[in-house]
Amino acid sequence: MDQELCLEMKEITKRFPGVLALDRVDLDLRRGEILALLGENGAGKSTLLKILAGAYQKDEGSICIDGKQYEFATPKEASEAGVTVIYQELNYLPDLTVAENIFLGRQPTKGPLGRIDWDKMNREASEILVLMGVSVSPKTLMSNLSVAEKQLVEIAKALSKNMKILVMDEPTAALNDAEVTKLFEIVRGMKEKGISIIYISHRLEELFEISDRVMIMRDGRRIGVVDTAATTKDELVTMMVGRQIDEMFPKKYLESGETLLEVRNLTNRTKVKGVSLTLKKKEILGIFGLMGAGRTSLADTLFGAEPLTGGEILIEGKKLNLHNSRDAIEAGIALVPSERKTAGLILGMSVKENITIATISELGKGMGINLRAEADKAQRWVIELNIKTPSIHTVAESLSGGNQQKVVLAKWLEAKPKLLILNEPTRGIDVGAKVEIYNLMETFCEQGLGILMISSELPEILALADRILVMSEGRITGEFTREEATQEKLMKCAVGGM
Ligand SMILES: Nc1ncnc2c1ncn2[C@@H]1O[C@H](COP(=O)(O)OP(=O)(O)OP(=O)(O)O)[C@@H](O)[C@H]1O
Ligand SMILES: [Mg+2]
Repeated sequence: MDQELCLEMKEITKRFPGVLALDRVDLDLRRGEILALLGENGAGKSTLLKILAGAYQKDEGSICIDGKQYEFATPKEASEAGVTVIYQELNYLPDLTVAENIFLGRQPTKGPLGRIDWDKMNREASEILVLMGVSVSPKTLMSNLSVAEKQLVEIAKALSKNMKILVMDEPTAALNDAEVTKLFEIVRGMKEKGISIIYISHRLEELFEISDRVMIMRDGRRIGVVDTAATTKDELVTMMVGRQIDEMFPKKYLESGETLLEVRNLTNRTKVKGVSLTLKKKEILGIFGLMGAGRTSLADTLFGAEPLTGGEILIEGKKLNLHNSRDAIEAGIALVPSERKTAGLILGMSVKENITIATISELGKGMGINLRAEADKAQRWVIELNIKTPSIHTVAESLSGGNQQKVVLAKWLEAKPKLLILNEPTRGIDVGAKVEIYNLMETFCEQGLGILMISSELPEILALADRILVMSEGRITGEFTREEATQEKLMKCAVGGM
């Protein structure tokens, strides 16, 4: 075979109960190339890579690395053959330090008793982080890091191993533009060293920037492979969803209603330092900012998940006294958090239970839960959001990443709030589903809801928000109408300038 190839996966088939996740999929990877993997939520991308990583067992097919055939029974075996994977769902131990997470299971030791050499471990971790340009101390606890920082630690962990093939499953989903630029520098450096990279992302712009070839998957099959330089965005989207998408951002112009939310000089113990804003009914208010600007902390405080230390929150002119999220839900507030795996979804529960959990009290008519109504509701959302699942009784854990996120969205939309706070609503969600979610946001606005949308994706926020606030270091540093706003203006305010 072509000696340039460093990996050949042939006719890989994988079945889960009720799902043919992979149907005779081929993948070949050349030495020192970056191959992007593109496909809708549930197309089989993560499953294919988990098989390469030894995390799942294939039912059929073969894997060759550098001409040698492998059967990986465990992740350890794959790792020894030079395969390193950074998963979509971050895997870390929150109570350990950054350095411990980087060297988990292979900590440097010293002395005859094999004690952990803490100095060496911290020093080496620090070296990698400095090399990456990440300003995180190796002694920090993982639980104290932001999502983006946790992601960077995962990458540091991968970099500290010797590898031939690096697989990254949506590594940039939680990163902002500056962090993505940094990551790409690191990735290009690895490519130059002859490491081959498989890269999954739903952000098409990125694939054009970083990849050499793109492989497209749909419904567990390989649809095709194209040279990045010779393709277009339209072509990729069409291959991916099997149809053309006419309008990416379906903005409707609504006359906004009376004031829904008023926030006066809000402060909290962590990031928020005097935020005032108003949001009208039927309005989408965008909040843009860089990682660490305080947007998530603001959302948490509005949702009662973080206590305020000053200022006030009013809904329909009524001052709220929020002790916890339950109070917020009762006041008509819903929050779709950004780190959905830990904050939004109960992995061991079914799709149905996850969707109806926030509204279960409403369904119970004094005599236990109305099971039929519960199932109907769940079923409706599965159709409306096109959630790919064998049934509503499937456990959430077995859904693909993007489909898990749709379940969390459904749960909060079902709660029919007055105020919907969306933190990075389309992170990790494929192009087709994004449009569905945008459409839903518009529909909810028409019904009188107000939406606070936190997003790091400039095209999304510019296209959907009626008004945009920019946050930097816990304060509002700019406010623009949709007509005034441009990428440059938003970025300028976000970095704390004028
Ligand atoms: N552990 C599992 N048990 C049962 N079904 C699974 C499991 N893992 C994946 N599946 C199913 O296999 C299919 C492919 O899922 P996969 O996670 O590979 O999709 P994906 O392309 O990575 O999607 P996304 O973009 O949403 O991450 C889905 O239908 C999913 O529900
Ligand atoms: Mg996936």
